[in-house]
Order: sequence, then C-alpha cells, then structure tokens
Amino acid sequence: MTTTSQDLQLLKKQRVAAAALSHLRDGMILGVGTGSTVNAFIDQLGPWVGRLAGAVSSSDASTRRLQALGIPIVDLNDVDGLGLYIDGADEANERLELIKGGGAALTREKIVAACAERFICIVDESKLVKHLGAFPLPVEVIPMARRLVARELTRLGGRPVHRAGVVTDNGNHLLDVHDLVIEDALSLESRINQITGVVTVGLFAARPADLLLIGGDAAVRELVRPR
Ligand code: 5RP
Repeated sequence: MTTTSQDLQLLKKQRVAAAALSHLRDGMILGVGTGSTVNAFIDQLGPWVGRLAGAVSSSDASTRRLQALGIPIVDLNDVDGLGLYIDGADEANERLELIKGGGAALTREKIVAACAERFICIVDESKLVKHLGAFPLPVEVIPMARRLVARELTRLGGRPVHRAGVVTDNGNHLLDVHDLVIEDALSLESRINQITGVVTVGLFAARPADLLLIGGDAAVRELVRPR
C-alpha cells in the first residue's frame, strides 16, 4: 500500500493534535474549534471523557463529534469565561495572526476565542506562512448584504467570490476574498469589520493565538506569541 501526501498530512494533524492534549486539565471546560485538525484532536479525547467538565463548541459539526464521544456540551452563556480554546487555522504567521473560516465556522470560532484566556492553535506545517493572504480570506455576511459587501471588498483591492451553496451555522453567506495583500492584519481586520453587512472576517489579529503548535514529519514545533 502506498502512502499518499494526504495520509502524511493526516499524520501531521494527528501528531499536532496529540501534542495539544498535554495542555488539558481535569475539570476544565474546554473551547473546541472546527475542522479536520480539530477532528483529529476530538478523536483523541476518549481518555478525557469524564475528566473534562464539558466543552464549548464552535460549530454544529464539532458539537456532534463531541457528543458522540460523550463529552457534555456547555452553552457559552452559562460560563463566565474559558481557560483554554483549541482550534486549527487555514494560515498562521509568526506573530500568530491567523486566517480562519475555511470550514465556515469563523464567527463562532472568534466568539469562543474571545472568551478564552489561552488560545492554542494547532496546524500542520503547510499552514505556516510568511505573509497571510494566499488562502482566500473568508468573510461571513448577512445574505441580503452580499453584493454590497463584495463591492466594498473590491474597493479594498480584493476579489471576493461567493462560496456558493454554503450557509453557515448562523444562516449567513460567505465571501472568500482572493488577491489581498495583507501587510497589517490588525488594521485590515478592523476595516473589514466596519463594512455594513459583515458579520465576521476570518482574520484573527486582534485576538491571535497565544501558542502555535506546528505538526511536522517527525516532531511538533512550538511558537509563542511575541509580546
Ligand atoms: C474552520 C476553520 C478551521 O480551523 C480551518 O479551516 C482549518 O481547518 P483544517 O484543520 O481542516 O485544515 O477555521 O472555520
């Protein structure tokens, strides 16, 4: 049987997901993100069933996976904050700023990240980039504002493409913005957030990760957010 590059990538995701387990503590309510790397993490949570008090989930898909394992789902409105949030990313730079939303869960992911004292981002090494933006930037929009927001994003130099057929867990649409040169992620995040009709932009610069775990061929590398 031959090993494909997809198999190798999955191994890296499983490796980095395993490394994140060492940050869990008994009795904690854990914030859980969305995507294939997070799925690899959830799939290794078996020994933590009964030890975690519960999980706040960032998507319906992660909720289903956590429930299937027997981990209680906690409503974010029933807690004052979270100690730890674990999630993946589509791109990460060395400042630990991220592009997220490839899995359409960016809004809830941003909400859970905002509540977390510590955000650990788990990625395979293909996600670490020098400059954010090769991955089209996801923007969740109120459906009736899609063309309005698209025009504004074009003015910012991007090429927005409607992610046809996808409706987010919040009932909204997504624009994936190509060709953006992202030099100042923090100010671009704030600028896009101010466009009427935008629900969330998938730039995580105001609330970047605190720790980036990067799964490689043989090991997991750690990058800590520069202060
Ligand atoms: C979902 C996300 C995911 O974290 C991101 O798309 C990475 O996913 P994967 O681990 O499958 O590569 O932001 O909205």
